[in-house]
Amino acid sequence: MSNVITGAAVVGGVCGQPIRHSMSPLIHNAWIAAAGLDAAYVPFAPTVDRFETFVNGLRGGAVRGINVTIPFKERALAIADTASDLARMAGAANLLLFDADGGVHAENTDGPGLLGAIAAQAPGYDVTAAPVVVLGAGGAARGAIAALLLAGAPQVSVVNRTVARAKDLADTFGEKVLARGEDALPALLPEAGLVINATSLGLGGGDGPVADLALTPRDAVVLDMVYKPLRTEFLRRAEAAGRATVDGLEMLLRQAIPTFEAIYGQPPSPEVDVRGLALKLLGEA
Ligand code: ATR
Repeated sequence: MSNVITGAAVVGGVCGQPIRHSMSPLIHNAWIAAAGLDAAYVPFAPTVDRFETFVNGLRGGAVRGINVTIPFKERALAIADTASDLARMAGAANLLLFDADGGVHAENTDGPGLLGAIAAQAPGYDVTAAPVVVLGAGGAARGAIAALLLAGAPQVSVVNRTVARAKDLADTFGEKVLARGEDALPALLPEAGLVINATSLGLGGGDGPVADLALTPRDAVVLDMVYKPLRTEFLRRAEAAGRATVDGLEMLLRQAIPTFEAIYGQPPSPEVDVRGLALKLLGEA
């Protein structure tokens, strides 16, 4: 273990506005310390109108890579010179990597985070086996749909309060993605292998989206992208119906793994209890 930062340290970070409550510095610095790396991971909060100035200032690799969070994910993709297929499909990047020659590459590790969380908390679930229902049609929904399609989901129904927004989203993906109103849920849920809350409902302890989860097949999986609180009302309803659940915190932790590898060039140690650290920070442990 070493916490020494020398002049040769590799610097990474996370950029958002606000950034004060980000859990990423805690997670990455715990991994850095465990590996004894000469490295640091720091928070950045550029003013909203100066995001591009900030990113352009990093061209050349003084900082190796940065995570990008709300409200900059779409602008991060736009400013990059190259982007992964997933970032392009998601319409957003949560990771920018800086080349020594000045280039900026956009990645999206939220998608692997979603799939990794399912693999960890609902092992054996086969994304290719059954239709998926995604509740919500914002940026979070778009990222989830992109990841699911690339992983081979046969069909994704986007259910949103504002159906026009679901239609706009579905149109960007093609025939495997269908836009539906909330009234379609009683027909969709009995066929669903996976139901995802990608709305902001439930954040801070309120009720989750209206969906009778008991209508899903017994082996269906229910995932909530909201992680404050950890056990959302939506996940509690899924549990009460006997369904396997996947929480949003696991998704957040799983996206950090490929991020760490991309910035620091090695996988993080599985020995570090990052979930325990995050739960403490959330006041859940
Ligand atoms: P994000 O980028 O995090 O996805 P967003 O773009 O603001 O955030 O999207 C929020 C999602 O939560 C939308 O699908 C929104 O539904 P509308 O498109 O109809 O606004 C959904 N949402 C937020 N509050 C809601 C509510 N009270 N009832 C139903 N859906 C709600």
